[in-house]
Amino acid sequence: MAIFSTVSAIVVLIIACAAGLQATVIGSTFSDENPIRQVVSDGLRELETSVLQVIGQTRHALTFARFAHRYGKRYDTSDEMKQRYSIFVESLETVRSHNKKGLSYTLGVNEFADMTWEEFSKQKLGAAQHCSATKKGNHKLNDAILPLTQDWRKTGIVSPVKNQGSCGSCWTFSTTGALEAAYTQAFGKSVSLSEQQLVDCAGDYNNFGCNGGLPSQAFEYIKYNGGLDSEESYPYTGKDGICKYSAENSAVQVLDVVNITSGAEDELKHAVGVVRPVSVAFEVVSNFRLYTGGVFTSEDCGSGPMDVNHAVVAVGYGVEDGVPYWLIKNSWGADWGLNGYFKMEMGKNMCGVATCASYPIVA
Ligand SMILES: *[C@@H]1O[C@H](CO)[C@@H](O)[C@H](O)[C@H]1NC(C)=O
Repeated sequence: MAIFSTVSAIVVLIIACAAGLQATVIGSTFSDENPIRQVVSDGLRELETSVLQVIGQTRHALTFARFAHRYGKRYDTSDEMKQRYSIFVESLETVRSHNKKGLSYTLGVNEFADMTWEEFSKQKLGAAQHCSATKKGNHKLNDAILPLTQDWRKTGIVSPVKNQGSCGSCWTFSTTGALEAAYTQAFGKSVSLSEQQLVDCAGDYNNFGCNGGLPSQAFEYIKYNGGLDSEESYPYTGKDGICKYSAENSAVQVLDVVNITSGAEDELKHAVGVVRPVSVAFEVVSNFRLYTGGVFTSEDCGSGPMDVNHAVVAVGYGVEDGVPYWLIKNSWGADWGLNGYFKMEMGKNMCGVATCASYPIVA
């Protein structure tokens, strides 16, 4: 009899990372029906005037001017502005028609509203990256009774939301997010860890800097390379660079890596319920970039290891209006989604949320 069943089969695939923009944004809900009332003077009037000159007195011109002002958009030419305006109007339409349906989640205008999905995926999902699905994981289930809901933020171990900018480095933020929580849980102190070290130095573990990587492989890198520096000693640039790691600045060590069996949401729920936050990956599809709240669900995303294209951190779970969800920390800044977080339907391996999950054990 073959012994294949005892061998962990690992399928190495591609995680493309969806990146956020670096522009600082304020607030998160902004729709045509709910225009910004607090008009500020720093350049808004000028922007409105130039938008009206280029676009004309069309229906959404002033809404667009407020959007551009709010998100610090710079359009270099009139053609560029016209093109961005027409994409913006399409986004308004997407938001309006989606929200009319009364589904479990809402969309809204955010900093991505002047980008098409093609642009978003090209610029933000970028080149090939990789996910590896662990056919048989090493997370151990036990008899622990799972809490009905979990939100690790309430225990103070979840670090603030960061912003990956326009580099496909989601996997490094997923890695630091899970590690920062593990560290604080273990040592009772907060810490901010270096994504840039992973971008620059973790290439030998099948990671590709701004072109992607995988948290489990980043944990392996940290485990075998002496640790991960603090954010302060190895700050984020959002660009591929030369490795400048120095072991003296190492702020955390990884003792071991625990992988969730691919697709096993019960294992993932057990880990998130009783252990700590877990790095997860999933497939970002077009309307996800305009998510503003509720439980995200989609018939367009896949759940296989080849589908997932973004890595994040599951920090809890719950039920909203009868729909069970994962509570997940993103790395597109604190103004995206629900203060930087989102909810993803639980129980259907929605968008592959349990396909590539792992968490570290720290020392
Ligand atoms: C966890 O997954 C990583 C690759 O993603 C792999 O290198 C490692 O061996 C796995 N760990 C175990 C214990 O299977």
